[in-house]
Amino acid sequence: AWTMLNIVEDSIEAVRRQVGDGRAICALSGGVDSAVAAAIVQRAIGDRLTCVFVDHGLLRKGEAEQVERDFVAATGVKLRVVDAEERFLKALAGVSDPEEKRKIIGREFIRVFEDEQRAIMADGPVQFLVQGTLYPDVVESGGGTGTANIKSHHNVGGLPEDIEFTLVEPLRALFKDEVRRAGEELGLPPAMVWRQPFPGPGLGIRIVGEVTRERLAILREADAIAREELSRAGLDRQIWQCPVVLLADVRSVGVQGDGRTYGHPVVLRPVTSEDAMTADWSRVPYDVLSHISTRITNEVREVNRVVLDVTSKPPGTIEWE
Ligand code: XMP
Repeated sequence: AWTMLNIVEDSIEAVRRQVGDGRAICALSGGVDSAVAAAIVQRAIGDRLTCVFVDHGLLRKGEAEQVERDFVAATGVKLRVVDAEERFLKALAGVSDPEEKRKIIGREFIRVFEDEQRAIMADGPVQFLVQGTLYPDVVESGGGTGTANIKSHHNVGGLPEDIEFTLVEPLRALFKDEVRRAGEELGLPPAMVWRQPFPGPGLGIRIVGEVTRERLAILREADAIAREELSRAGLDRQIWQCPVVLLADVRSVGVQGDGRTYGHPVVLRPVTSEDAMTADWSRVPYDVLSHISTRITNEVREVNRVVLDVTSKPPGTIEWE
């Protein structure tokens, strides 16, 4: 803990030197990396950092609140929240292809973030963009970065075509486990610090088929139950992650209560892994699986079947899309 405290304090000091009396912005995703990076920069420059949280409506139950309420309470970060669910759902309407979904979500994210950027820059120039780049990302991309161009798709009223930022990357020397320890040191919400990997496109790539508000609501409930039961069973540290996938275009016959149902299956995809490059399906105890299945089919009306994915990676990827 002593060395981690030093690492955190050194990196706060380094950010203070780098940013001087400039201003910075940071996009929060709900994940640990951007949260810890933002918390460090906040300690260094206070209100001259503005964080932006684009709620794309594709997060899991409770995750938006974690950012908007718990993270802000823990850090005092100045935060702008954009409720962009409507916009993302409109852009995703009618789209089933996984790569197409990813592209749309990425594109909309950048557009919304750019709008916020402009609004923030109306109060004065912003020179720095905070990113939660980790050491393994630095190595993978071959070392140097420094600036980022964020393209302006809609050039409004005399704003520059490209806004150039200098990157602030306080986690560049750290591995994931060190980032988590830094997060604890900074007093971040434990659920954020210990969050398992979750993809940027969120639940959008865990609905096989078109993404709609109703389908998201179904998946969000089923996912929350699975996460709750896996945590209760003490399996969080031994499972790398457990996607819950809604097969929205598949229906099967069931019987619930007194009646015949024609509902959707959800897939549980618990995996063990070291780095997500390869993975094995996790041997979750039968009684835990049984609890999850009973609860989901009892509590989520539209789901009448729970199935287990027993495929390793390769050949299966961790996510279904
Ligand atoms: P796959 O499905 O390729 O996933 O075996 C490997 C790891 O990456 C995560 N993942 C993503 N993360 N944006 C992300 O930020 C994405 O588009 C994306 N796709 C997959 C996945 O959850 C797993 O941890």
